[in-house]
Amino acid sequence: METPKREPLLRELKNYLTHLKDVGYTEIPCEAELFANAQQRATQPSQSPNEMAKSLTAVQKELGDCTRCKLSETRKNIVFGSGNPKADLVFVGEGPGADEDEQGLPFVGRAGKKLTEIIEKGMGLNREKDTYICNIVKCRPPGNRDPEAEEIAACNPFLIQQLLAIKPKVIVALGKSASSTLLGRTVPIVKERGTWHEYAGIKLMLTLHPSYLIRFYTLENRKAVHEDMKKVLKELGR
Ligand code: URA
Repeated sequence: METPKREPLLRELKNYLTHLKDVGYTEIPCEAELFANAQQRATQPSQSPNEMAKSLTAVQKELGDCTRCKLSETRKNIVFGSGNPKADLVFVGEGPGADEDEQGLPFVGRAGKKLTEIIEKGMGLNREKDTYICNIVKCRPPGNRDPEAEEIAACNPFLIQQLLAIKPKVIVALGKSASSTLLGRTVPIVKERGTWHEYAGIKLMLTLHPSYLIRFYTLENRKAVHEDMKKVLKELGR
């Protein structure tokens, strides 16, 4: 195996540590270890897919009636995710809003309608059949505030296992929070949208969040998301 170059690794490490500091950590969280283990499992070619990852049902069972962070005190329902557990394409958003909390399903409110429009009208796919949708936190942050570092950290092991259970061809991170969480650094989303990355050996595309698109409904932003989704379709061979 080729020895990885030192400089890019050090840069990645510096970015990761800066991100942890930015979001309020004073210590390195232990899910980093879990991620490394999960990533290793996912990239071991000698193992069968079943050995590589837990099933989605097993991940949801392990999450249970979660009380690992304070969002459990105010949520109505856990919003684990929805769609095809064998989908080639997974969208990851930030966290449930009021409608999602009420129904226990992701992206069913206004942002959800926009996301469905992007998937069905824009990409010509079927939301339920062709995609799986989830969030970086599974419970609604009160008043739709941004999820806090400890809340993201508490949910992250489940997000990682969820993505490794589905093992899609492409993950799309919707907005800054999802992009930053998946890449482990603070992502300037307007600048970095439309770029390819990797998450546990899976292709990762960054794009604008549907709520941002609703709020700043400019031709430029609509074109940007359209271009990003065209890249995703090409990668999927569709
Ligand atoms: N916004 C998100 O990021 N996720 C949802 O599920 C709904 C709105």
